[in-house]
Amino acid sequence: MPSQQRADIRKAVEVLRHGGLVAFATETVYGLGADATNSEAVAKVFAAKGRPAANPLIVHVVDKAVAKRYVGAWPESAERLARAFWPGPLTMVVPKGIQIVPAVTAGLATMAIRCPDHPLAGELLREFDGPVAAPSANRSTRVSPTTADHVRQDLGKGVDLILDGGPCRVGIESTVIDLTSSKPSILRLGGIARGRLEEIVGPVEVQDPAAGTSSAAKSPGRQAIHYAPVTPAFRIAQGDEHLFSTFFRHRLGRKAIFLIIHGSELAGQLPQWADHDAIVELPSDAAEYARRLYAALREADDRHVDMIWIEVPPAGGQWDAARDRVHKATRPASEGS
Ligand code: TXA
Ligand code: MG
Repeated sequence: MPSQQRADIRKAVEVLRHGGLVAFATETVYGLGADATNSEAVAKVFAAKGRPAANPLIVHVVDKAVAKRYVGAWPESAERLARAFWPGPLTMVVPKGIQIVPAVTAGLATMAIRCPDHPLAGELLREFDGPVAAPSANRSTRVSPTTADHVRQDLGKGVDLILDGGPCRVGIESTVIDLTSSKPSILRLGGIARGRLEEIVGPVEVQDPAAGTSSAAKSPGRQAIHYAPVTPAFRIAQGDEHLFSTFFRHRLGRKAIFLIIHGSELAGQLPQWADHDAIVELPSDAAEYARRLYAALREADDRHVDMIWIEVPPAGGQWDAARDRVHKATRPASEGS
């Protein structure tokens, strides 16, 4: 690790010890960190983000051993999942330990904990040698940041220091799995696909926040709006013919459209409209797509277009998380035509 980064990390640890805020790169998205045992520091996280106090934070630790110091209980399933996927994009909900201040968990008796897979985050957590509460480092109204620039744009002076680790490798948030009920259930799809979790702990349910209010109450941060760009965004089926007529109608009404597509089906038809609007073609590989999705949504917001149209990614294992985020970021096409 370059000596400049080492110096930054030493500084960051001091900031955390003094109750300040450090934004840091992880493999998923940038986090906005505070000492999870310090109520005043944790209050600053909520203030900087404009985050409702009812939305609990994830506690980050350097490894399983440190995790066990701060949880209230460590189920056998947590042990097995940590062995399989930590460090990595998996957050586990387990009973809360007493050292974690109540504001972190929004008063819940459970806590979410994860060990990120990024050298900068790892060094920070190792040197700090304690639990760091960190939500994604965006203003509450924006999509999660995947570069240090995104963090600066959103939080600016609201953060004491930013550990810049370059663009995030995964690009969407960690999978959140609840291990406090009799059967493990996914509260948020993310960096680790359901099938991989099932290989380790058997059948896992997916709670769909769009499906009802009970699961929404269980993990309050999963309201659809949480992942949406500011610009009105609509989803279209892949290669949907309807897109063309709607698109031209909006063009006649002089609306600027930011279109996010992937794969090749629409790409062949693009040149005839490409001069008017922004068209971003995301990669047709699921992992690459996820890596670039949030930057594309931010770009659309920054260009102040009238609307965003997104071609929905396919269903199926490795696409589930990105598809989930596109659904949460958009309304059905029928509402935008
Ligand atoms: O990849 C990630 O998870 C990133 C990086 C920074 O680690 N963090 C992140 O944090 O996405 P945030 O605050 O944006 O999302 C935390 C999610 C929310 O959906 C929240 O409701 C859920 O975790 N959560 C936290 N504590 C919980 C708990 N005790 N029970 C259920 N859900 C919880
Ligand atoms: Mg977030």
